[in-house]
Amino acid sequence: MAGIELVKLEKHYVVEGKTIPVLTGINLQIPEERITVILGKSGCGKTTLLRLAGGLEDPDGGSIHYGLSQRTAFVFQEPRLMPWLDVTGNICFGLKRQEIHRDEIHSIIHTVGLDGFEKAYPSQLSGGMQQRTAIARALAYHPSFIMMDEPFAALDYFTREQMQRELLRVWKSQKASILFVTHSIDEALLLGHKIVIIEKGVVKTEFELPKAGDFRNLLDDKFIMLKREIIENLNVAV
Ligand SMILES: Nc1ncnc2c1ncn2[C@@H]1O[C@H](COP(=O)(O)OP(=O)(O)OP(=O)(O)O)[C@@H](O)[C@H]1O
Ligand SMILES: [Mg+2]
Repeated sequence: MAGIELVKLEKHYVVEGKTIPVLTGINLQIPEERITVILGKSGCGKTTLLRLAGGLEDPDGGSIHYGLSQRTAFVFQEPRLMPWLDVTGNICFGLKRQEIHRDEIHSIIHTVGLDGFEKAYPSQLSGGMQQRTAIARALAYHPSFIMMDEPFAALDYFTREQMQRELLRVWKSQKASILFVTHSIDEALLLGHKIVIIEKGVVKTEFELPKAGDFRNLLDDKFIMLKREIIENLNVAV
């Protein structure tokens, strides 16, 4: 079995003595070397699902099956940088000395558009720049699996589009497996090979997108039709 398989996965939280069911039986195959996008309304359990799949939390029921040995990197909704380390220090955080190659770190810094800020500390960066540092840290780790939780939400439209293109480029060259959480339908359509809609604690629908890797034109009829279908599935008013 390749990738990650979630079987009847359950998770609840207890708040002030009351049990809040979040995931109530998630069955999902997260394939290797593909971008799987989790889409759903705020509070539906996307972050919880990502944390369980990444092994950061234990499920209350069901099971998780992992394929070959995995080296997992995370990009969270917020940057989570070390305030006492500069940009380079944060990117290299978690790497062993022999894993740090200066040229590669330079090229990653260039990829995320932080040239000239190598020695800046998180407090000297904008929110978007901090998030780009977090993305660079994930890339420098050479992960086989990247778990990304709304990684571009803090970025402006142009930077976001640039980072989406970069992510596709990285995916193409490294063939990493990516689990990507978003609540942007357009982002899901641009990036996803598989789009998974979560509702009421279960997988409501899965969409497979045939052509992978290139930057897609969302104004193509087929994407407009798919977007309509996704909107209907999400029960959002248009
Ligand atoms: N540590 C926790 N303790 C208690 N409740 C929690 C905890 N983490 C999440 N929850 C609850 O679980 C539900 C799902 O939260 P989660 O963060 O997974 O949603 P989400 O889909 O990622 O939302 P968003 O799009 O706003 O990030 C919410 O009702 C939330 O209040
Ligand atoms: Mg979340």
